[in-house]
Amino acid sequence: MGASSGFVLWFTGLSGAGKSTLAASIAPLLEARETSVEVLDGDEIRAHLSQGLGFTKDDRDMNVRRIGFVATLLARNGCAAITAAISPYAAIRSECRARTERSGARFVEVWVNAPLEVVEERDTKGLYAKARAGLIKHFTGVSDPYEAPAAPEVVVHTGEESVEESVSKILQFLEAEGLVRPEAVPG
Ligand code: ADX
Repeated sequence: MGASSGFVLWFTGLSGAGKSTLAASIAPLLEARETSVEVLDGDEIRAHLSQGLGFTKDDRDMNVRRIGFVATLLARNGCAAITAAISPYAAIRSECRARTERSGARFVEVWVNAPLEVVEERDTKGLYAKARAGLIKHFTGVSDPYEAPAAPEVVVHTGEESVEESVSKILQFLEAEGLVRPEAVPG
């Protein structure tokens, strides 16, 4: 018997912390356990559902609310909805949590906690350098706030853990909560 209750797996953290990587890595592992899965990735959502929105607080709030809305629709229909947007404001994240929980699904917040020094040093997209040079305004962590979660269900330290370690921490939580069934024993 597969796990049937849907849930939202909400990644939050700085740009470059590893949200998209973790979402993409955990998705097939959940699928393998008979959970239907959708990934709502920040960059992809901004290319479609949130096309035209920028990075003012109002635009971010609208973007994150849209993601929370769709994630709830999916979760209440038995899907594991994985989100990967910075979602920098605690109040909007808790609004999304409340919406999901009202629908009867669980909300699992994962703080992808990499120090600014680490993501800035990696600078995978070259955006931190541009933000420091003043070419991008309101950049999260540099010139715009990031409000860390006060009570996330899971914290992963992607500055020091491997992707596998972080993924396995999250899977352990989901298993312990009965949201996914334990890995099938081969044979
Ligand atoms: S959120 O704040 O609305 O949740 P979202 O995750 O969708 O942000 O988008 C963040 C991505 O947009 C970053 O990873 C980065 O590639 C890009 N980006 C462009 N401008 C900014 C900015 N001012 N602040 C943060 N990220 C930005």
